[in-house]
Amino acid sequence: MKNTWSKMLLTALALVLLLALSACGGAQSETTAPAEEIRTKAGGSEAAQTEAETEARTGTEALPGTEALPAPETDAAEPLPAGKDTLVVYFSATGTTKAVAEKIAAITDADLYEIQAAQPYTSADLDWHDSSSRTTAEQNNIAARPEIGSEAVSLEGYTTVYVGYPIWWGEEPRILDTFVESYDFDGITVIPFCTSASSGIGRSGRNLAENADSGNWLEGKRFGAGASEDDLRAWIDSLN
Ligand SMILES: Cc1cc2nc3c(=O)[nH]c(=O)nc-3n(C[C@H](O)[C@H](O)[C@H](O)COP(=O)(O)O)c2cc1C
Repeated sequence: MKNTWSKMLLTALALVLLLALSACGGAQSETTAPAEEIRTKAGGSEAAQTEAETEARTGTEALPGTEALPAPETDAAEPLPAGKDTLVVYFSATGTTKAVAEKIAAITDADLYEIQAAQPYTSADLDWHDSSSRTTAEQNNIAARPEIGSEAVSLEGYTTVYVGYPIWWGEEPRILDTFVESYDFDGITVIPFCTSASSGIGRSGRNLAENADSGNWLEGKRFGAGASEDDLRAWIDSLN
C-alpha cells in the first residue's frame, strides 16, 4: 500500500515537471518569433535584414516600386512665361517707322510683327516724283491691295495692337489696307501711328478702321524721324 502511494506521488511529480518544462519551451519560442520573421523576410542578406528590422521597428512598409525613386528636385521648374498681350505691327519701306515701332515695342513690352510686301519696294517704286511709279499708281487706286509676303501672324491673346506705317501721298500705304482686311480685331484695341516728312496722320487711321471693320480703334498719332523714347512714352501714357 505504502509502495503504491509512493509510485503515485512520483508519477504526479513527474507530470508536474513535464508540464512546467513544456510551458517554458512555449514562452521561449514566442519571444524569438519576430527575429525569425525578420530573417525570413530579409532573405538572408545583411542590408535586407537591416531594412526589414527598421520596418519591424517602425511598423511601416515601403510601397512596392517606390524604394528606388530619386529624391525630388529641390528647385521647382520655372513657370512658362505668359504670352504678351500687346503686339506692334509695322510696315516700313526705308526704316523710319521700323525704328519707332521697335521703341514702342520696348516701352510696352510687346511682340513685333513686320508687314513685308511679297514684291519688295525698290527705290524706283518709292519715287514720288515719278507719276508712273508703283507707289504713285497704288496710292492713286483706292482699291489697290498689294500682297503681303511675310508669314501671317496670329492675333490670339493680344488685347492691344499698334499699327505703324509711313504716310504716302497723305494716306496709309495700300498694303496696310491689305493687312487690316485680313484680320479680325474683335475685342482688340487698335492704335495707329505713322511717320512722315511733314504731313499729319490725316484720315489714314480712320481709313484703316473702316476697312478693318472690327476692333476698337483709337485716334492715332504721327511722329517725325527723330521721335525720342520720351516722346513715345508720353504718348503711350496718355492713352491709358
Ligand atoms: C511714295 C512716298 C510718298 C510720300 N508721301 C508723303 C507725304 O504725303 N507727306 C509726307 O510728309 N511724307 C511723305 N513721304 C515721306 C515718308 O512718309 C517718310 O519719309 C516716312 O517717314 C518714311 O517711313 P519709312 O522709312 O518707314 O518707310 C512719302 C514717301 C514716299 C516714299
